[in-house]
Amino acid sequence: MAKTGVSLVITICALIYPVHLLDNGLAQTPTMGWLHWERFMCNVDCVNDPHNCISEQLYMQMADIMVQEGWKEAGYEYVCIDDCWLAQERDAQDRLQPDPTRFPSGIKKLADYVHSKGLKLGIYQDVGNLTCAGYPGSHGYYDLDAETFADWGVDLLKFDGCNFGTLDILVEGYKNMSRALNATGRNILYSCEWPLYLWPFHQPNYTDIRQYCNHWRNYGDVYDSWQSVKSIIDWTAIHQNLIVPVAGPGGWNDPDMLVIGNYGLSWDQQVSQMAMWVIMAAPLLMSNDLRSIDPKSKMLLQNKHLIAINQDPLGRQGYRIGRVNSFDVWERPLSGGRYAFAVLNRQEIGGPRQFPLLLATLPSWKTCHPKCRVTQILPNYQDLGVQNLFSALKLTINPSGTILFTVTLNEGLAAEQNWNKKRKTPNSVF
Ligand code: GLA
Repeated sequence: MAKTGVSLVITICALIYPVHLLDNGLAQTPTMGWLHWERFMCNVDCVNDPHNCISEQLYMQMADIMVQEGWKEAGYEYVCIDDCWLAQERDAQDRLQPDPTRFPSGIKKLADYVHSKGLKLGIYQDVGNLTCAGYPGSHGYYDLDAETFADWGVDLLKFDGCNFGTLDILVEGYKNMSRALNATGRNILYSCEWPLYLWPFHQPNYTDIRQYCNHWRNYGDVYDSWQSVKSIIDWTAIHQNLIVPVAGPGGWNDPDMLVIGNYGLSWDQQVSQMAMWVIMAAPLLMSNDLRSIDPKSKMLLQNKHLIAINQDPLGRQGYRIGRVNSFDVWERPLSGGRYAFAVLNRQEIGGPRQFPLLLATLPSWKTCHPKCRVTQILPNYQDLGVQNLFSALKLTINPSGTILFTVTLNEGLAAEQNWNKKRKTPNSVF
């Protein structure tokens, strides 16, 4: 075919099939890593608090520990910078530059260091004129900033939405940055907060957002408290019919960071956050101090059974199937016809309570017909044996704690069953 003919065909194809704009092949399973914000916030006081301030040293230390202490091996891969890394001004060529006293070696050197450990580096910017903490934003510089990040060897961009101006700037800005990242030719995972900033105005178009972002925040910032973690879980359940069907390989709902290993959650609440983030197919981005984390919290975050469920290749997000007697019951379909279940005790008075679960009442009851194997994973690992539809499991759950277990079809590995494929959230059965 003559050259003009070829380009005509390409043009027509491009018109008929709009290019999928986020073309990086990343986040086939939820992202895993560490992100500084919740624990270290905007601590820029390296004179008085050198150990905890936002500086290149902090990320180098986290990278070292991620390799030395089993985090990398468990799957945690991205070391991510949040807000407050920037200098107050762009340089003479309008390029972004890090604060020179806190990042004296520059971001490229930091990326090289992180890469030398076999890890990846994440960075933060904002769609508007200023970041949330008041540093220069990317508005008007999307292409240049994307190129700068690519030149530095950055692997993930968390793109915030503060100070966005008009809704058009917000939406177009998120799309433009996605295109700009793609255009660099470097695979940079794109973490958005686009729906969070749209919600006060209208319901976001999640199909659209999924085309541009690898994950997206829907709800407010996580704090180091059970109140905060609960509010995120509840928001997710209330909006599940809208947000669950859109999640899958390449694009995930992001309920914000794991705060396990900090100050605000009891042991049972840490178990509950981990269980729910696993069921919600959430990015596992820890915000804690890996240099001094409690061994129990570390074991929870590195639990390979939990990580395997979070990273399940089927890539379906779980959903709440019922709320009864102050117990929340969630399920997540897994590959091989398996399911994970979480039962969260929402009663915060009294002691441990029993939840009698009849397997026949689950929407996925067919998994236990004629028999299934039940394995408890949280709060501790326990083989609960072979069960059938009429087995009543007596689960004893602490206040604000969670029991998480998997159910596997006993007779051979289930080929993907039809009921397992429907991307639909079943109605409550309780
Ligand atoms: C917003 C984001 C947070 C964090 C801060 C930084 O609040 O939602 O996750 O990035 O900005 O200023």
